[in-house]
Amino acid sequence: MMKADGTKQLKLGNLEATPPAYRVATLNKEKFIQVLDDVDALNNSSSLKNKIIVLKHIITYPKNDREGILNIDANGDTISLRKDVLISELNQILEARTLERAKYYVRRLKNGVQKIKTSKVNDINLLRWKEYDDIITDSLWIMGKRDTSGAHLGWYWGNFIPQIPHQMMVRYTKKEDWVLDPFAGSGTTLIECKRLGRNGIGIELNEEVVVKAKALIEKEQNRFNIFSDIIAGDSTEIDFKEILKERSIDKVQLLVMHPPYHDIIKFSKSPKDLSRTPSVEKFLEVFGRVVDKTYPILEKGRYLAVVIGDKYSKGEWIPLGFYVMAEILKRGYKLKSIIVKNFEETRAKRNRKELWRYRALVGGFYVFKHEYILLFRKK
Ligand SMILES: C[S@@+](CC[C@H](N)C(=O)[O-])C[C@H]1O[C@@H](n2cnc3c(N)ncnc32)[C@H](O)[C@@H]1O
Repeated sequence: MMKADGTKQLKLGNLEATPPAYRVATLNKEKFIQVLDDVDALNNSSSLKNKIIVLKHIITYPKNDREGILNIDANGDTISLRKDVLISELNQILEARTLERAKYYVRRLKNGVQKIKTSKVNDINLLRWKEYDDIITDSLWIMGKRDTSGAHLGWYWGNFIPQIPHQMMVRYTKKEDWVLDPFAGSGTTLIECKRLGRNGIGIELNEEVVVKAKALIEKEQNRFNIFSDIIAGDSTEIDFKEILKERSIDKVQLLVMHPPYHDIIKFSKSPKDLSRTPSVEKFLEVFGRVVDKTYPILEKGRYLAVVIGDKYSKGEWIPLGFYVMAEILKRGYKLKSIIVKNFEETRAKRNRKELWRYRALVGGFYVFKHEYILLFRKK
């Protein structure tokens, strides 16, 4: 039910998030590596492939395991691999045209099991990169349904879909890193922080929204024992350094910003609200202040993600996204990507679709169907 302040009535029930549905093969690491070593030592393509066929059979039908690959000792070292990815790696070995190529794939699989290779900014094991097919690497995002699991109730008018902070955090943070969201709204970023084991701080101007967001963030399980809080305040003025100092840190590793798209949605009556700025120029100036204030607390080489859309006013398309990008580029950031993301269809929008199509045909413009995720790296 919609309330007068634009938010929906909340029901705080059981907010357990659903785990991903991949099937995982848990293997006896030592035995598995031994088998791969044995395969690697073979000097004949057909015996190598026969061994791989046996291996594939064991993974698919665990009861047929005579090698002890699936025998998990109480104190033994185990490795969990995504079953579908493991099978596809084995298939790749089977399809290799030469013995050398097959051995190359065998060694690559062994490396992925034995070693971890990550970059400085995330925990993605690059030796097992195929397992991360839920990470988007294309610049066009056509998102289906919003993730409404757990505490992500989607009650706040003007929120973003949890998949946005989720994607940003898996690519640009490590476990226990700190994430700051200066326009926290309903706390989507902070809920996602808790799920992914990142510490999170949010600033939000509207105190009523802060109270509701706090309750929801607390409802989300804290499996990784991380810190997360949403603070009522004005991000153009708040002392970010002090806020970090209170938590015994001096830098964050990711900034997520989802400011108002100027006055498209008026979030509150406060003159400090960016959605109440009297012109686009003033909006950019005030937004620039938040960029200035947060720049010093972002660790060098780390990322700023800004979610923003354009607006339409007096018969003219106002490229707010590009203006915002230009403001940020003035301030020592390097542009890493412009992601174009579709708007998901809400019921309200669906009902107005026909009307907008008619208006577009009459007015000679296109109906907004996208927004931007602008990605910057601090030099
Ligand atoms: C687009 S919404 C963010 C929504 C959020 N990503 C979510 O999923 O709920 C922008 C938010 O910025 C807040 N805001 C506007 N001016 C602000 C300011 N000066 N300081 C802090 N927050 C502000 C608004 O109240 C609004 O909640």
